[in-house]
Amino acid sequence: MSKLEVNGITLTFPAEAGASGWRRRFRPNRKREVSPPPVLKNLTLQVEDGEFVSVIGPSGSGKSTLFHIIGGVLQPDSGTVHMDGVDVTGRRGLISYMPQNNTLLPWRTVLQNILLVQEVEGTIHAGAKAEAMEGLRRIGLEAYADAYPHVLSGGMQQRAAFLRALLSPQELLCLDEPFGALDALTREEMQHWLLSMWEGSGRSVLFVTHSIEEALLLSDRIFILSSKPAAVIREIQVPFARPRTDAVKLLPEFTELRRTIYELLKPDRQPDGTSS
Ligand SMILES: Nc1ncnc2c1ncn2[C@@H]1O[C@H](COP(=O)(O)OP(=O)(O)OP(=O)(O)O)[C@@H](O)[C@H]1O
Ligand SMILES: [Mg+2]
Repeated sequence: MSKLEVNGITLTFPAEAGASGWRRRFRPNRKREVSPPPVLKNLTLQVEDGEFVSVIGPSGSGKSTLFHIIGGVLQPDSGTVHMDGVDVTGRRGLISYMPQNNTLLPWRTVLQNILLVQEVEGTIHAGAKAEAMEGLRRIGLEAYADAYPHVLSGGMQQRAAFLRALLSPQELLCLDEPFGALDALTREEMQHWLLSMWEGSGRSVLFVTHSIEEALLLSDRIFILSSKPAAVIREIQVPFARPRTDAVKLLPEFTELRRTIYELLKPDRQPDGTSS
């Protein structure tokens, strides 16, 4: 039984809601309404217990939308979401979710933000504050525990939000480009920190990234998505042993897989993985 199973999800946003300004309109010569295309089409993927799975796909392909469906915020037109074998489609509160945009609450200190999820869930325990302080130390923000988010840089806020997700009680972590806003060096540091926190933790992770190298360094498996409507065009098993270090980047298989994924993500690819 998988920790997470996303089975044949299809979703179309209503015509008037299109973020790109999609409007209900009529083709002048056909007088017929043009319906918007689906964002996700029959998308299926799984995350096993304790597995680290990445999703890579073009911008706008529907990765954040997929997370909203897994988190129960959006209801799919068809398809289901199962966790531990139970149908949880449309149910909220079951995943620890770090959204793409920073969501620290400006009126709470960094430490209060990190303890927020446990507080809301009523699961705050005696050691929670010490655990949060230790986490802050490891991401270099110990001195900012009592500061408010606005005095932190974008990257620091991102790190704090990431720590909050990591310390939440849910077993499945959904991280939507957690390192997207960080400079290259900080990003590498955070990748190693994530690996050291995650390896041996038993947590399952679903991770969205645009970086092929990041996905190869961190993941057990990678799902490659087509452009909109998003469907899985390839599932890649990452063969490197754990614990992982940067040394994997020097392996010939790393270079080979990087090239394979790069080719798959080229814009002229069709949903079935062939060239147009
Ligand atoms: N609430 C919404 N209403 C209508 N359309 C939406 C809504 N949310 C997203 N979309 C559209 O769905 C598509 C997928 O958006 P989504 O944010 O899931 O992409 P993404 O793969 O996460 O992109 P990125 O890599 O840039 O973060 C886009 O075309 C977007 O405009
Ligand atoms: Mg997104």
